[in-house]
Amino acid sequence: MQLTINNTAVEIREGETILEAARRVGYTIPSLCYAPGARHKSSCMVCAVRNTANGQIIPSCTTYPTDGMQIDTENEEVKLVRTLSLELLLSDHKADCEAPCSMVCPKGLDVERMLAYYDTGEMEKAHLLIAAAFALPEVGCTDCKAPCEKACRRGSIDQAVAIREIIQDVIARSTETPGQEGQPIPKNDKNQYYSRLGRFTAKEKERLKETVTTPSRCLHCACAGRTDCKLRRYATAEGIKRPRYEASTALPVMEKQQISEHLWFEPAKCIRCGLCVYNSTNGFTFQDRGFGMQVVLPEANRSHIGDEFAALCPTGAIYLKENESWK
Ligand code: SF4
Ligand code: SF4
Ligand code: SF4
Ligand code: FES
Repeated sequence: MQLTINNTAVEIREGETILEAARRVGYTIPSLCYAPGARHKSSCMVCAVRNTANGQIIPSCTTYPTDGMQIDTENEEVKLVRTLSLELLLSDHKADCEAPCSMVCPKGLDVERMLAYYDTGEMEKAHLLIAAAFALPEVGCTDCKAPCEKACRRGSIDQAVAIREIIQDVIARSTETPGQEGQPIPKNDKNQYYSRLGRFTAKEKERLKETVTTPSRCLHCACAGRTDCKLRRYATAEGIKRPRYEASTALPVMEKQQISEHLWFEPAKCIRCGLCVYNSTNGFTFQDRGFGMQVVLPEANRSHIGDEFAALCPTGAIYLKENESWK
């Protein structure tokens, strides 16, 4: 069978969807709830295309070609549907792509990563980052007005992380002269999409105060998925800077659940695409319906989930620990 995609005739292979055929011949169509070879159901609509033969907008990831279809992958209407779908997904996405402290450091110190090393006792690695950011590491940032501490999320719960003191502590405890392996974080790309965590509710504040037990008291705000998150990438490509709609979310903010030695799950970053649910047996599952629907992983099911789910998840919701803080 033949299909017309953007006015070009395309021969369809057995069992191919419109998305697969279009990608095979070189068209770029975004997708979130689809992954090659994985079981999936349409839910996100970011793969929308238009059948100009009847004017319908259809999800290309689950639609099989039929005779007479003429597919347009790029018109304004299609782009509008994709942007709107992304904006709706982002409207109840309560998470930080980047850690606020790192974003405001005038020296470009990756504060969150340095604190991650501090919390695991890896002082030399923390020192390397400091040495890469400061011309005179032994002086640290004693003269700085510490915008990092003003931006610190922890400050909205009880007290900001004592970042400058910790930097001094790292410097004092480091015995070796650092090499130049650590790199300052790249300057913020203003064209990139930045998801930002809103304010904490009173309940969230109480919970976070109790659950964060790291030596620095840092919440580790940066998203482990920030360098390869498809949601962020597509939002950036569509020119979305901030979510247009504000929706309250029922998802537990900043709750991180350990699945196995390396694998973690953060429900607030889930877009309920279902990929993990449809591709695990006795693993992830949907809970509730409608706006309150969540993807959950009962404790008894954790052993059924392998590290490959990190690659399947289109966001930073399921992630490998080593990706946290770019370790
Ligand atoms: S809690 Fe940690 S990662 Fe978050 S802003 Fe404060 S110092 Fe940075
Ligand atoms: S999941 Fe993606 S969009 Fe959400 S905070 Fe992480 S990087 Fe940003
Ligand atoms: S955890 Fe990831 S794969 Fe699973 S439903 Fe959420 S976004 Fe999709
Ligand atoms: S990728 Fe097609 S509906 Fe989500």
